Amino acid sequence: MSDNQYKEITRVTTHVLQEMKERGENISMLTAYDYSMAKILDEAKIDVILVGDSASNVMAGHMTTLPITLDQMIYHAASVIRAVYRALVVVDLPFGSYQGNSLEALNSAIRLMKEAGAHAVKMEGGSEILESVTRILSAGVPVMGHLGLTPQSIYKFGTFEVRAKEEAEAAKLIEDATLLAEAGCFAIVLEKIPAKLAAEVARRVKVPIIGIGAGGDVDGQVLVLHDILGITKQFSPRFLRRYMNLYDDILDAVSRYIEDVKLGDFPNEKEQY
Ligand code: KIV
Repeated sequence: MSDNQYKEITRVTTHVLQEMKERGENISMLTAYDYSMAKILDEAKIDVILVGDSASNVMAGHMTTLPITLDQMIYHAASVIRAVYRALVVVDLPFGSYQGNSLEALNSAIRLMKEAGAHAVKMEGGSEILESVTRILSAGVPVMGHLGLTPQSIYKFGTFEVRAKEEAEAAKLIEDATLLAEAGCFAIVLEKIPAKLAAEVARRVKVPIIGIGAGGDVDGQVLVLHDILGITKQFSPRFLRRYMNLYDDILDAVSRYIEDVKLGDFPNEKEQY
């Protein structure tokens, strides 16, 4: 991209997202963990790219998001940032990089901003992490909250079932969303909670609410890119819409390549020097 083309691009900022909520325009968000995919998402004009700690599952094959490290998140985030001219790039603070104390949290956030070039960080939890959220915000780093089914707490939940179906958990979620918004978080992800509850939070809270398995009456939607492309085909929750079956397409392409090599059909005369 030339300097002039670059100047013409209006970058998506946290303020742009707030304006989108205010005029009722839905916010689109997808995950990316590498340069090539991020480039396609940015060209398609996605509003927000999330370098999610779901990289732990999707990229590294772990069962949970817990093992991924801050160094690994920095590697993924820096690769994404190199591809992006327009989207807001939000990077997950991984498990263990912010729960200890607020100074540890601040130092981790600063590493994501300085070493990867992140535009904002995302953190899971409500009142329990408020001190860290406030400290990071006061250093000038935008924070996105994440409530509901927060995958870093999967061993506490013990199940991937819908969260906040009971009144007490729903009330705590509303309280946490209010706290995070009042502290200065620029947006909040709500994962796998009843659609009615998510709609209520989106109505009550001033900042954009981005849902995943939280129904349509919120301010935006996020999904994992590899899920919508059908690369992760074992994962089929009700909230997922698949737009491709890339796992099968790639399997077919690779099988045909292997066959061509085995038969001596590749390379042909035009494919050599
Ligand atoms: O890590 C991730 O991909 C996420 C989204 C599912 C919201 O946190």
